Amino acid sequence: MMRSVIISFCLLAAAGGAARAADVAAGKAAYDKSCKSCHGADGTPNPAIAKMMKVDMRSLGSAEVQGMSDAELKKIIADGKGKMRPMPAAASSAGDIVAYIRTLKK
Ligand code: HEC
Repeated sequence: MMRSVIISFCLLAAAGGAARAADVAAGKAAYDKSCKSCHGADGTPNPAIAKMMKVDMRSLGSAEVQGMSDAELKKIIADGKGKMRPMPAAASSAGDIVAYIRTLKK
């Protein structure tokens, strides 16, 4: 519910030509394309990937990940983390993807 409210608000803001901070819809499109295969549609990690890479992946909606600042998340998206260096390239701006990741909060 809250999520759709946030998304509609952003779509309205974009349609109205309001100052464009981050574009959740563009972030979602990029996430679906570049991240979903490993991080899941709702941020829940794909167990096969975690097993294959022998890492303990955290859900992107978890308090640990949501507790990181936008700057930290952007850095991970740009530079990668742990065994994923770099994180497979994001076509869209990291800011848009971070805005989308914020909607995955549990
Ligand atoms: C090929 C699989 C794969 C793809 C594609 C991928 N990731 Fe990851 N990602 C991982 C793995 C594995 C980790 C955990 C790395 C570690 O902790 O060693 C990770 C970690 C992360 C983290 C840190 C989470 C934490 O627990 O601290 C973020 C944020 C993240 N990925 C975002 C993204 C975004 C955004 C994209 C798309 C642009 C993306 N990833 C694409 C596999 C992937």
